[in-house]
Amino acid sequence: MYGELSLVMRTLVLGVDLCGRVSGANMTLMQEVWATKIRTFFEKGSFGALKVSPDLNYTRVVVDHVAIPCSGTTSDGIRWGVTNQPNFATLKGWAEAADTAAKARGIPVQTYTQRIYLMPDSIGTNSWGTINCPLGAAVVRVWTGMVSGINDSLRLLVHEMGHNLGLKHSQGYDESGRLLEYGDGSCPMGAVPVPTHYNAAQSVWLGWTTPQAVLSAEDLPMGMWTVFAIRGLADSPFSSLQILPGTWMSEGWGLRDNLYVSFRRYSPTNADAGLVDLFQNKIQIHMHPRARDGCESPVLLVNLDAPPSTNAAAAASGGDSAGPATSGDSGGNRSSVWPRPGSELPQDKASPLLVVRVLGIDADMGIARVALCRAAQFGPESGAQCTDGLDNDCDGQVDNC
Ligand SMILES: *[C@@H]1O[C@H](CO)[C@@H](O)[C@H](O)[C@H]1NC(C)=O
Ligand SMILES: *[C@@H]1O[C@H](CO)[C@@H](O)[C@H](O)[C@H]1NC(C)=O
Ligand SMILES: *[C@@H]1O[C@H](CO)[C@@H](O)[C@H](O)[C@H]1NC(C)=O
Ligand SMILES: *[C@@H]1O[C@H](CO)[C@@H](O)[C@H](O)[C@H]1NC(C)=O
Ligand SMILES: [Zn+2]
Repeated sequence: MYGELSLVMRTLVLGVDLCGRVSGANMTLMQEVWATKIRTFFEKGSFGALKVSPDLNYTRVVVDHVAIPCSGTTSDGIRWGVTNQPNFATLKGWAEAADTAAKARGIPVQTYTQRIYLMPDSIGTNSWGTINCPLGAAVVRVWTGMVSGINDSLRLLVHEMGHNLGLKHSQGYDESGRLLEYGDGSCPMGAVPVPTHYNAAQSVWLGWTTPQAVLSAEDLPMGMWTVFAIRGLADSPFSSLQILPGTWMSEGWGLRDNLYVSFRRYSPTNADAGLVDLFQNKIQIHMHPRARDGCESPVLLVNLDAPPSTNAAAAASGGDSAGPATSGDSGGNRSSVWPRPGSELPQDKASPLLVVRVLGIDADMGIARVALCRAAQFGPESGAQCTDGLDNDCDGQVDNC
């Protein structure tokens, strides 16, 4: 799915002193961070599809900072200077000046398609990254300003490097139904304190994981429940369900728009070790529009739990009697079914006449079981539906009139 340039990253990392202001970046420490945490993040997360080679031709973290002047002109003829509110031209000017300084030192800058500039604190606390979408072979860049520690560095770097791989922000809703640009707290492209795996939608888009199943209308017969067992997103290169609502919805969903059901199994040793409590061992549903160039933000719609009565043993036993049931959704905001019954929030109204019900989550076994039902309508069953032997409204009861 990604361009050739991304199979092995070719990354140059420079500490940049601007106008006599020294970058706080400790490049010796950065070398260690790249060789360990950054390398692990990308190689583990991509299940080896994306390599971060320690060879200097591929990863070059330059120990001595480069120094650039207080002002200059970009290759497009735009003046740049020192500011804590840089626009694109200013960022480009800093980058070009840093490239020139590195070249003067004999570093073959042009062979590195990804260039990272660790700037002095005086440019502020922000970071920026080239959004490489639609994916192209052009040089991509990351700039970071004030960074207070390794966790913050990592957090910013995997976010901006995600942009370099073509990712947009991972959005999500708050509890009152407001869409937030960084609203997915389980994805570095949203807002995470410590890197986690990129969410299922991003991960499939990157080609890091392949869906266990791609489901169209014909795979989800109307009024019937189909059970799936899902692996953890950070456990296997094959995980999550990719659903194509455009194959049955006449409006609102294009044929390339996706819905993902994924299992965020927490383990201190997988790439989801950074998940905060709220997202550990949940079933997630993301919506990912794929209009035109495919460069769209995925949206986290819900995090689901196992029903309170289900324990891990029941989930693992695989008994189909565990099938859909209407009761058991209680306990504050915890829910095991989406859309949440009665909810008027946009994250629930987004359902394309599809109900997802968690049957069980077995974190130890690394398997979660969910049941999917495609509804004729969300209102009560009536008329011929009362005797057709189907659960037309997917409320868990057949012929419930
Ligand atoms: C930079 O990091 C290295 C490696 O962690 C450490 O030994 C060194 O003391 C640090 N230098 C400064 C100036 O903090
Ligand atoms: C790195 O690049 C140099 C110069 O082009 C080349 O001689 C060397 O073989 C390369 N190393 C690897 C491992 O590709
Ligand atoms: C940094 O992240 C690690 C987990 O990766 C955590 O154990 C540690 O407490 C964090 N440090 C700070 C200063 O937040
Ligand atoms: C539950 O949702 C309500 C609003 O619907 C919100 O005010 C509250 O903070 C939520 N509680 C938790 C624990 O998330
Ligand atoms: Zn961003």
